[in-house]
Amino acid sequence: MSDPVRELYSQKRYPALSHPEAHPGVLCASARCTGLVSPPLPEQCRVLDIGCASGHHLLALAERFPDSEFHGIDFSDSAIRTARQAAEAVGLNNVTFEHADLREWQPGSSAYDYVIAHGMLSWIPDEAKSALMDLVAKSLAPQGIAYVSYNTLPGWAMRREAAMMLKALPQIGPCDGLDAQLKQLAETAAMSDSAHAQDLAEIFRDMRRKGPEILAFDELAPCCDPFHFSGVLHLAGQKKLRYLGESTLPGNLPPNLNPEALRTLETLQADPVLFQQTLDLLSGRTHRSSLFCHADTQLDTGTTTSVVLHFAARLRVSSLPEKAIHGEIVGHFHAALAAASPASRSVPDLMEDCARRLGPRWEPEQASKAIADWLYQAARLGWVELRSEEVHAATHAPARPCLGALNLHFAKQGDPLVDAFHQTCRFPESHQKVVKALDGTHGHDELRAIARDQAPDLDFDPWLAHLATRGLFPPA
Ligand SMILES: C[S@@+](CC[C@H](N)C(=O)[O-])C[C@H]1O[C@@H](n2cnc3c(N)ncnc32)[C@H](O)[C@@H]1O
Repeated sequence: MSDPVRELYSQKRYPALSHPEAHPGVLCASARCTGLVSPPLPEQCRVLDIGCASGHHLLALAERFPDSEFHGIDFSDSAIRTARQAAEAVGLNNVTFEHADLREWQPGSSAYDYVIAHGMLSWIPDEAKSALMDLVAKSLAPQGIAYVSYNTLPGWAMRREAAMMLKALPQIGPCDGLDAQLKQLAETAAMSDSAHAQDLAEIFRDMRRKGPEILAFDELAPCCDPFHFSGVLHLAGQKKLRYLGESTLPGNLPPNLNPEALRTLETLQADPVLFQQTLDLLSGRTHRSSLFCHADTQLDTGTTTSVVLHFAARLRVSSLPEKAIHGEIVGHFHAALAAASPASRSVPDLMEDCARRLGPRWEPEQASKAIADWLYQAARLGWVELRSEEVHAATHAPARPCLGALNLHFAKQGDPLVDAFHQTCRFPESHQKVVKALDGTHGHDELRAIARDQAPDLDFDPWLAHLATRGLFPPA
């Protein structure tokens, strides 16, 4: 029987991507805040990535957490080969990759603390969707966290129509043709004043931004089925999985709904599914990455804001809205966060800094409460990121900048790097030689000379400092 999804992945290489929102350090904090009592710690856990492609996401996790175990499965032979070669080249022996079809693969006797299915549910045929949720449930440890991402309705509905029309248009062919066509459609739609046409123009513009490399696997893929939130809940419920919340705390409050609008929806919160569906309708969000646990997992229903005190935090925005910082304690805490930036520091350490600044006026109980309440809200609003572990990042590069072993391997292959926060870092072709030279053998002057020679358009010093802020030069 023909399998267009399999054909696509055997013919085209899926881009190498890492996903910060599917990082166990982030999932651990998000799941605890939504009531999971003792989420697994990334430093000592087992992770399964279903549909791991060439392993970019998993390899970087394996390097970061040497005492944890990682396993990826994918039915693309070439992707698995690439992933294995990278693990071997870097000497990572805590990650394995298996060529397998998720519809047949069995997890074995040891369960996984984190099961990741990123970019899968919407993009596989119907019988595979059910098999995927079955595999997620079967392989998940009793206190484990499952991550499932999917395109979301009703936000995706107009995009689905646009993609269907685009696929039907005869001119679609080489990449340039597709880009020209999207440009023309965007410009034509933008000429009309109607809200509908403006929305459509924005969809075409966004498709152009994604580019043909991603579009082929998303809007224009053989399978690209969006879900209502309730539909995913139904699939999960059939496998006895319970919804925990979204993978990042801000994901629970869609960004384009202001707090005033949210207050008007408070009465809906008694029915969480209706509440979430209403948020999806009003925000028009097109994507979700949802977390699940086993239905019989005990949850802490009285979760308080104090859970955030166990994590690490970093500032995500350079300036906060007016009145966002209120009171002396919160002011000092925010200053400690800003001083640690761009790194992520443990909240107890940040609180110790505050205590030192406040001296005898520091009252532990009152201060903890003020900080926990503020930090919880700040994390939900996306001002601060919470994660389970500290992450090293600096404002300046070391004297001889050196990427980690895995990133050096990626640089040699011409693949994107993965920063300390698990964000994918792409470089233009002309900058690749400078990236490869970040191997710890060159000082800044030498690197500057290489940049002048190989990449005259590169503004070298701010560029190097930017890489440092992304934690790309781990301490030796
Ligand atoms: C959209 S890509 C997502 C890759 C990766 N998870 C990410 O998000 O970066 C889907 C991946 O799933 C794999 N895949 C699709 N159907 C599969 C199946 N039935 N069994 C195993 N792998 C499958 C494809 O080969 C491809 O690598």
